Amino acid sequence: MRVFELEFPNPVLLASGVLGISSYLFKRIEKLGAGGIVTKSIGILPKKGYENPTIVELDYGMLNAMGLPNPGVDYFLEEIKDVSLKIPLIVSIFGKNSEEFVKIAKKLENYCDALELNLSCPHAESYGMAIGQDEKIVYKITKDVKKSVEIPVIVKLTPNVDDIVRIARSAENGGADGITAINTLKALAVDINMEKPILKNVYGGLSGRCIKPVALRCVYDIYKNVKIPVIGVGGIASPEDAIEFIMCGASLVGIGSAARDLNVFKDISEGVENFLKKKNYTLKNIIGKATKNI
Ligand SMILES: Cc1cc2nc3c(=O)[nH]c(=O)nc-3n(C[C@H](O)[C@H](O)[C@H](O)COP(=O)(O)O)c2cc1C
Repeated sequence: MRVFELEFPNPVLLASGVLGISSYLFKRIEKLGAGGIVTKSIGILPKKGYENPTIVELDYGMLNAMGLPNPGVDYFLEEIKDVSLKIPLIVSIFGKNSEEFVKIAKKLENYCDALELNLSCPHAESYGMAIGQDEKIVYKITKDVKKSVEIPVIVKLTPNVDDIVRIARSAENGGADGITAINTLKALAVDINMEKPILKNVYGGLSGRCIKPVALRCVYDIYKNVKIPVIGVGGIASPEDAIEFIMCGASLVGIGSAARDLNVFKDISEGVENFLKKKNYTLKNIIGKATKNI
């Protein structure tokens, strides 16, 4: 299917950040049946990330505060410049301001199929959610990046705002080709024996099954209010989850926490296809269906 003028063999993508950034892994994920890959977020310079513990497993999901560790854009370019994939490669990028975003975007433009602007990390000092919560900054970064590259630009939003639709509209007005919703929810967990927060960074981003209803609400509202395609992300672990997102308006879905099981891409895309066959639908038929049957 075609979204953002790119051809995706199926709608199930790897979401940003969960499975490293090596070209070897990208080839492996393609072989495992993903419809596209979104890389871990890349910044202008190498970044070490936070000290451990950076991840906590919860009964109902996962909490992480990695601190956007990445090798920096120049090293990353070396990693991807010779990789040849049949599925779209979307590089996620982050920066402090629009100048930094533009610099990184220009360096990457000829080596990937699209860019995803991470304006939504809930635990990244001045890099993440703080900029994604301000509609004027979202508009400016989107517009500046869009003006400086020819490839599609997708904006990834945080659910940690009072009105996600307002932010989605700013991205659309800035020229975004698509919206990814959602990044993780700002959250915290306590070790009662140590009597302190578990994560070294105190706060982290909550992901996994427990955030699915929040993500569905965001996708539903965004779909009803913007015209550009939406990538639905948040707690997807089964074909039924993916279908819910598509019915709320997602054209594509991203798998984050559930990608620890590498069969997930094939299982979900085949499950979605079987559902469509059984109902005699095409994917296009069901995008946003739940927003109309009220
Ligand atoms: C360990 C981990 C690292 C992540 N790193 C990034 C990242 O670098 N950039 C980004 O935009 N999102 C990042 N995310 C967020 C995911 O892409 C996704 O939006 C979120 O986890 C919700 O999806 P899920 O419930 O399927 O995990 C990360 C998530 C996890 C769990």
